[in-house]
Amino acid sequence: EKGGWPSFMAKEVAEEPDAVANTIRGRVRDGAVVIPELDGSDDLFRGVDRIIITACGTASYAGMVGKYALEQWARVPVDVELAHEFRYRDPVIGENTLVVSISQSGETMDTLMAVKYARERGARTLSICNTQGATIPRESDAVVYTHAGPEVAVASTKAFVAQITALLLLGLHAGRVRGTLSAADGAAAVAELDALPAKIAEVLAEEQAHVTQLAGWMADTRSVLFLGRHVGYPIALEGALKLKEISYIHAEGFAAGELKHGPIALIEPGQPVFVLVPSPRHSALLHAKVVSNIQEIRARGARVIVIAEEGDAAVLPFADEVIRIPLAGALFEPLLAVVPLQIFAMALATAKGLDVDQPRNLAKSVTVE
Ligand code: BG6
Repeated sequence: EKGGWPSFMAKEVAEEPDAVANTIRGRVRDGAVVIPELDGSDDLFRGVDRIIITACGTASYAGMVGKYALEQWARVPVDVELAHEFRYRDPVIGENTLVVSISQSGETMDTLMAVKYARERGARTLSICNTQGATIPRESDAVVYTHAGPEVAVASTKAFVAQITALLLLGLHAGRVRGTLSAADGAAAVAELDALPAKIAEVLAEEQAHVTQLAGWMADTRSVLFLGRHVGYPIALEGALKLKEISYIHAEGFAAGELKHGPIALIEPGQPVFVLVPSPRHSALLHAKVVSNIQEIRARGARVIVIAEEGDAAVLPFADEVIRIPLAGALFEPLLAVVPLQIFAMALATAKGLDVDQPRNLAKSVTVE
């Protein structure tokens, strides 16, 4: 079943271009995103004054990227809530709240209970799910399926990129329905979406060997930090989670701006730090802030591994390693930047002789609360 790949995870990472392409397919009409499953469901988005995205683990990090897309295109305030925290307080939700759940399996009990709770409170519910006919979509008013295909490895990879893709589609669909997205912006986003599969394939082709070699050198590393800003922040969290899950290495992701508020105390000579550098084409200010974060940690001896777009030379004087990704729109970069982090975790686990598909203590889908 692994089709010649050393692990399901390796196979599933290689399938990411297809996971994204298959999730987009059939959802673009005349240069605009139209999700056929949501035909006749415009009322889900009209009159909504708040969106809550709820999920666990990797899916919650996809949700954090989705927050940026939904706010930008559909102009609705969005909160991301861990599903297991959601119903143990008294959240302010009602008929004008849309609760979007994200689950690869569609069976995660924590997420299911959050969806049921939201429905009881009168909220509208939409699920993003990779498994046809699973329990969470059945309990939701509407479902947008990701078409990543079956994911076997416990650590989620292709489902994650498909989830982000589905959230981008949802943001574009909702923006169109709500009249908050111009046709020109919608068309530009569709062009970005269409270009993604080939760009992910390019990251795999260009960086797989480099990142694998890097992980081999770092097999004895005891701690790795990940920094990002804007949509790079959830990707930093995801990079850290992958490493914890399959390499059993202490890893933490931070919003780069938090560095000076605490985490910089962790930096000692030799500490490896991955930094996700946003494109200077989107925001020169954001880019400059991240470059200055890199200088701060470098000055304290950190071993800096940057993930930056092709041609960004500003990072070169301060980086020990540079991993390149193709140019993409601001909200589309996470789909490229996460790929080297997935490869890194997989290669490091392999270098340590671990079973990357079946990490200790974890299950693919957790059906207890
Ligand atoms: C965890 C898995 O238990 O559940 C994670 O180890 C996953 O990889 C999380 O992201 C959520 O799972 P699902 O199926 O709801 O997306």
